[in-house]
Amino acid sequence: MAAERFYYTTPLYYLNAKPHIGHAYCTVLVDAMTRFRRLFGDEVHFLTGTDEHGQKVQKAADQRGLTPQQHVDELHAAFRDLWPDLHVHYDDFIRTTEPRHVRAVQTLLQRLHDQGDIYVQDYAGWYSTAAERFWAEDDLVDGKCPDTGLEVQYITERNYFFRMSKYGAALRAHIVANPGFIRPANRANEVLGFLDKGLQDLCISRPKERLSWGIPIPFDEDYVTYVWFDALTNYIAALGWPDDPEFPKWWPHAHHFIGKDILTTHSVYWTTMLMAAGVALPQSITATGWWLSGDRKMSKSLGNVVDPLGMKDVYGPEVLRYFLLRDMVVGLDSNFTEEALVRRNNSDLANDLGNLARRAAGLVGRYFGGRVPEGGAPTPDEEEIIAEARTLHGRVQDLVAELQLHTAIEETMQLVRRLNKYMTDTAPFKTIKTHPAAAARSLYTVLEGLRHAACLLGPVMPEKMAELTDALGAAPTTNIHDLRWGGLVPGSVLKMEEALFPRRDLPVTEAPAPAPAKPPKGAGDGAKAQAAPASSPEGVIAFDDFMKVVLRVATVREAERVSGSDKLLRLQVDLGEERRQVVAGIGKQFAPEDLVGRQVVMVANLAPRKIFKLESQGMILAVDTPDGGLALLQPTREVPPGAQAH
Ligand code: MSP
Repeated sequence: MAAERFYYTTPLYYLNAKPHIGHAYCTVLVDAMTRFRRLFGDEVHFLTGTDEHGQKVQKAADQRGLTPQQHVDELHAAFRDLWPDLHVHYDDFIRTTEPRHVRAVQTLLQRLHDQGDIYVQDYAGWYSTAAERFWAEDDLVDGKCPDTGLEVQYITERNYFFRMSKYGAALRAHIVANPGFIRPANRANEVLGFLDKGLQDLCISRPKERLSWGIPIPFDEDYVTYVWFDALTNYIAALGWPDDPEFPKWWPHAHHFIGKDILTTHSVYWTTMLMAAGVALPQSITATGWWLSGDRKMSKSLGNVVDPLGMKDVYGPEVLRYFLLRDMVVGLDSNFTEEALVRRNNSDLANDLGNLARRAAGLVGRYFGGRVPEGGAPTPDEEEIIAEARTLHGRVQDLVAELQLHTAIEETMQLVRRLNKYMTDTAPFKTIKTHPAAAARSLYTVLEGLRHAACLLGPVMPEKMAELTDALGAAPTTNIHDLRWGGLVPGSVLKMEEALFPRRDLPVTEAPAPAPAKPPKGAGDGAKAQAAPASSPEGVIAFDDFMKVVLRVATVREAERVSGSDKLLRLQVDLGEERRQVVAGIGKQFAPEDLVGRQVVMVANLAPRKIFKLESQGMILAVDTPDGGLALLQPTREVPPGAQAH
């Protein structure tokens, strides 16, 4: 495939708080995407940075008794310096206080003003200081700001407005004509719904008397620029817009990665700004979900922020990266717990991957002088592994292109598990006595399989996988097209010394709460609910552990049998904000047509798993009946889909 070009961006993080796991996630995701693309032979430019103007930052500086400039100069380093610690390598870091950014914003404002797309008007409305914006009377909820729930004030003000409404129809047409433009697809519908309510013009100035910390409006010295108009422009400012000859090299290939809470600003404000400026729209805007803590977004104000640096220091940055990318489906929310991270480390990394490498290296050390043995002609079993590895290369490329990183990782881990089984089945530690050539071949297959896995997991855990490759006595593979079976050279010296991923103890949980309830049997997902850690012999769990389980009511929209199974049904369920696919083992008791329209209760934050090659994104709850059937749990009356049980 011909090499493609990608310009990847993260949001610019506000400097009103220290970096947390939500910020780390988006940046690690873009870093992994960048590394995957480069592995596939593509060219990538990766931009991140900090959003340094506006009321929030000014307030944060005031609280610290610093000038805004002192505050941002100090705090931006917390972000800039965190990324290398998480093994993130960006190509450019932009601060919105840099001259190159200020120049681009002012050029854009002037251009839009000159062409009549910015006008001045008196505006009266309800102003929310917390949300930094005006609201119409109808928008208010109980007379309060709908975003923050805080007080609003009625004020009249002269301001500058961008004629955003003029571009609404063109934007709508663009979204409809380009299905991959806003990802995941359900988010595109959300934006279309927003546009259908009628697009207003956008207030893009703030009087200096109210807010001085911003970019001066070039045609009126009494005003500064609204922080979003300012910040969004970074994506072109960093490439030297409007006059840098390098700008066209990257801009038409832009892909923005953002959190779902800032979708409107990107897909509506930013796109219409670009249309007005005569600049092409980005290729895609991907809205990710949130990392939750007990089902609430982690945020500074809620005080439930997990410090990514803390996790990195305890478990290592690459275990954290693996967890973030494996346990989050791009676009959906996920619960962050230290315990889930430790379990992931122990099962996937220490056990499946690390142990296999150690076992194989140990035998090679003992019987082959620590040198990669000869492979020889493959048996049918090995032919199968070789074919699987080959298919996996293409699968990983497709899955990454579809942003299914968690599945790309999982399918690579399936190869590792296959190698584990093969090692046990072929038992080289026994055959070494009777068939040394067969033992040599088994070990070669395992080592070579590990080399492939290390290459495909490299974008997720760059340093650990480089270490593993080196320990296997192999050279790093920089392009996936050069990764061929048989590339591991017999005779190379293995350098496997320490365990790559040590096993970890589960973090200590709080004292158990009384009154254990027997959990309902899990009917979805073909598997039982993951057993809670027995924090006492009676299986009592702490209240906090229970709170980690998100139970939601879902409405079944579609149901069909999974071909080849009489037990499994594939359901499409509606959770209000999102649709999910669930594979449930209830096909013997229920006909698909009996389920459509029914409300069920599901565990909504289980890590997705593959059943019959289908991904199951949740588990439906059911109980056994005395006649050997199943009864589904459901609310006593209809409730909005997505409602959470508590
Ligand atoms: N400064 C704006 C973005 C301007 S882009 C031109 C901003 N900054 S932010 O620091 O508040 O948030 C940055 C990103 O972090 C957002 O995409 C937001 O969704 C993401 N996250 C913040 N908390 C999060 C979680 N708990 N989980 C995942 N991401 C979340 O908005």
